[in-house]
Amino acid sequence: MKKGIVISALLLFVVFSFAFNKAPQKITKARLGEMLFFDPILSEDSSISCASCHKPQFAFADTTPFSKGVHGRLGNRNAPSTMNVSSRDALFWDGRAKTLEEQALGPIANPVEMNLPVAEAVKRLNRSKKYRQLFFALFKSVPTSKTLASAIAAYERTLETSNTPNDRWLDDKPNSMTDQQVRGRTIFREKGKCFECHFTPDFTADEFRSIGLFNGKSHNDSGRYNVTHNIADIGKMKVPGLRNVAVTAPYMHDGSFKTLRQVIDYYDNPHATMPDGINRDSVLREPLHLTEEEKQDLEAFLLALTDDRFSKK
Ligand code: HEC
Ligand code: HEC
Repeated sequence: MKKGIVISALLLFVVFSFAFNKAPQKITKARLGEMLFFDPILSEDSSISCASCHKPQFAFADTTPFSKGVHGRLGNRNAPSTMNVSSRDALFWDGRAKTLEEQALGPIANPVEMNLPVAEAVKRLNRSKKYRQLFFALFKSVPTSKTLASAIAAYERTLETSNTPNDRWLDDKPNSMTDQQVRGRTIFREKGKCFECHFTPDFTADEFRSIGLFNGKSHNDSGRYNVTHNIADIGKMKVPGLRNVAVTAPYMHDGSFKTLRQVIDYYDNPHATMPDGINRDSVLREPLHLTEEEKQDLEAFLLALTDDRFSKK
């Protein structure tokens, strides 16, 4: 009799744990945001999703200078990584959005990106039984522009990456970085002056600076000036974070550098590449005079900022 009870209890336990394991994952704001990030429903002709330009395998950046939006339309700025953005207080190269929520609706309506009025995107989500149910489960309301932005932003906040050789080195874990990378780190902080603008933990403090990639002709994106209309801001861009920079080529707001080595050569002597660059930051006034070995060390350090999920095993 007693044995029977024990066996039935055990059986029940097994059945329940099986059912529990099989139960569908609970929907969260971030999970809904992930579905939306990958869903072309948010573009005019349902051909483009956020992930078309922010490609997960390249740390959510794009591999071309300018990404294609609907009807093959090209924008005029390079798509940055959407990882490690949870602490940013300015988004876009010119910082025109203050929060991820505010940012998220921009590309949907942008004519060269998804080209769908936000009101129309919200209507589409309301016509979808799946989305109506999911939004209702999470927000107790049908989809609205506010809840749409809130879900996408919640997903983006999960895209933080801190499993890198540099983070382990900072935690005093043995053998985290090679000797070359440690030397490169010193150059990053001292002779190279990179640390003046690219601070830890994400290598940006969301400041706007000009490295001189503006001459009003071949380089004519006035950056922060478009937002402030202050002459002093001409050519200034938000200092980009450098986590996973090894996988987010090409570089700069216009994707004009293909490799990290080109970036380092530029910083070594900006005047040589852009003699007519306007408003270049005073930190970059004199050439750095890095030796060949120092350039290689610096590049090796930049590779130590790559999260394990992207580093080739
Ligand atoms: C057609 C390509 C394209 C699509 C589609 C696209 N983006 Fe972007 N994204 C860009 C470009 C280009 C920029 C930089 C634009 C600028 O600075 O003016 C950018 C910037 C961003 C930024 C700012 C990152 C930073 O560090 O400042 C975030 C976040 C972002 N996009 C998220 C999204 C989301 C969410 C979607 C979908 C709703 C989306 N993007 C759709 C190309 C795209
Ligand atoms: C005066 C501030 C400043 C200094 C010093 C500086 N940077 Fe930058 N960095 C920026 C800004 C601003 C940008 C974006 C410029 C643009 O797109 O026009 C940038 C862009 C970059 C990029 C491209 C990132 C991307 O996603 O496209 C890399 C890589 C980089 N810097 C590395 C370095 C290294 C290495 C050093 C030191 C040798 C350095 N930076 C020194 C401000 C600075």
